[in-house]
Amino acid sequence: MSSKVVFAIVCLTSVHLASETVAASESRTFSIDYKNNCFLKDGKPFQYVSGSIHYSRIPRYYWKDRLLKMYMAGLNAIQVYVPWNFHEPVQGVYNFEGGRDLEHFLGLANETGLLVILRPGPYICAEWEMGGLPAWLLEKPNIMLRTADTDYLQAVSSWFAMLLPRMERWLYSQGGNIISVQVENEYGSYFACDYNYLRHLRTLVQNFLGEDTVLFTTDGNTDREMVCGTLQGLYATIDFGTDTNISTAFDRQRRFEPRGPLVNSEFYTGWLDHWGDRHASVDAQKVSKMLGDMLAMGANVNMYMFEGGTNFGYWNGADHDSRYRSVVTSYDYNAPLNEAGDPTEKLLVIRDVISKFRKVPEGPMPPATPKMEYGFVTLQRVGNTSGLLDVLTPQGPVQSHQPLTFEEIKHLYGFVLYRTKLPRSIPDGQPLI
Ligand SMILES: *[C@@H]1O[C@H](CO)[C@@H](O)[C@H](O)[C@H]1NC(C)=O
Ligand SMILES: *[C@@H]1O[C@H](CO)[C@@H](O)[C@H](O)[C@H]1NC(C)=O
Ligand SMILES: *[C@@H]1O[C@H](CO)[C@@H](O)[C@H](O)[C@H]1NC(C)=O
Repeated sequence: MSSKVVFAIVCLTSVHLASETVAASESRTFSIDYKNNCFLKDGKPFQYVSGSIHYSRIPRYYWKDRLLKMYMAGLNAIQVYVPWNFHEPVQGVYNFEGGRDLEHFLGLANETGLLVILRPGPYICAEWEMGGLPAWLLEKPNIMLRTADTDYLQAVSSWFAMLLPRMERWLYSQGGNIISVQVENEYGSYFACDYNYLRHLRTLVQNFLGEDTVLFTTDGNTDREMVCGTLQGLYATIDFGTDTNISTAFDRQRRFEPRGPLVNSEFYTGWLDHWGDRHASVDAQKVSKMLGDMLAMGANVNMYMFEGGTNFGYWNGADHDSRYRSVVTSYDYNAPLNEAGDPTEKLLVIRDVISKFRKVPEGPMPPATPKMEYGFVTLQRVGNTSGLLDVLTPQGPVQSHQPLTFEEIKHLYGFVLYRTKLPRSIPDGQPLI
């Protein structure tokens, strides 16, 4: 207990005194100080106040605007997921263009003055379609996702061999803004608990990004999750929201990481919505109070989400606990910046709290983006599904004796209409076996 108090004083004092600018001649480093229980940036104690933002949920046109608002709220870092299926839609075919131009996004963050905590998965969860894993992985019927399965690892290795070399020049040590890289995502929540898989990922990431890059894991606040999700060489961090006792949660992180910085990698500012749910709402006062408490302990905090955005197309994910529950199109998340990227009351109280710990940039918060009315739109019925099949499926139907999965017919998103002709007529109400 006493060591924690001492560390808080050490880190906080230094953070207040540390100058924001570093002499150009000084070498750029980012590391973990196990002695003083904090991060070191260019050799000086560093505490991050970060927010999650997903470039895949925001049109590229607005990236800069959202990042500027995050910077103006007093953040010094952002946390970014990389959805594999967004970049490798077909095995071996990669897309880093337009709204998928991750490096452009990193560059905008860099010029805005935001450091980056990168979360390349390969599994990301994020309420994103299949947690970012490409659907084509399922074309191998026996594949064991998120384990040391040969087919799965081979696909991961090819993907990382495409992604991670692009990330190298964005590492802080190389003149970029990436200070740390997460390996997998809440792996301790997955049933497999496969350390060979985590070891393989660790080796893969280290091979591409070097042994000196800070690598970490993030897991939920239970022992089981921390046991199965953590691995030597990957700094163990924890995630929790406003309904959790801070000291209980950080004590748990301490049991797995006796020394080093306290980190809440996902402090929940809001929550996701499933179809049929009421829109999530997490109290702004609770969020800001708890944020202040964590920052006062010297902890590093990433707010999940800071700007949620939208699940365009078929990118919304689904949860399956006791039943299947899919996430709605909006990923507003009741976050400090709303779905449209506009500042909310929550953003302002969070900025007030942050201003007690670090200098918040001067100047006005960029305003809400202008909106326009579309007026009334009258929809005109053009037909029904069976009448329009030739238009919807110009290539014609797929024939088979047994029903095929979406993956088997390589129709990874959208809808499939299954039709069959019965060999004889069946009376109404008789079950077909
Ligand atoms: C990031 O921004 C800094 C400061 O503006 C600049 O010196 C550096 O070249 C940028 N890094 C990259 C990779 O663009
Ligand atoms: C959290 O738990 C600790 C120790 O069990 C307790 O002393 C403290 O009052 C709790 N904090 C809150 C906010 O409930
Ligand atoms: C669907 O559209 C077709 C072609 O316009 C028409 O012949 C058919 O009766 C319609 N079916 C239903 C159920 O409305």
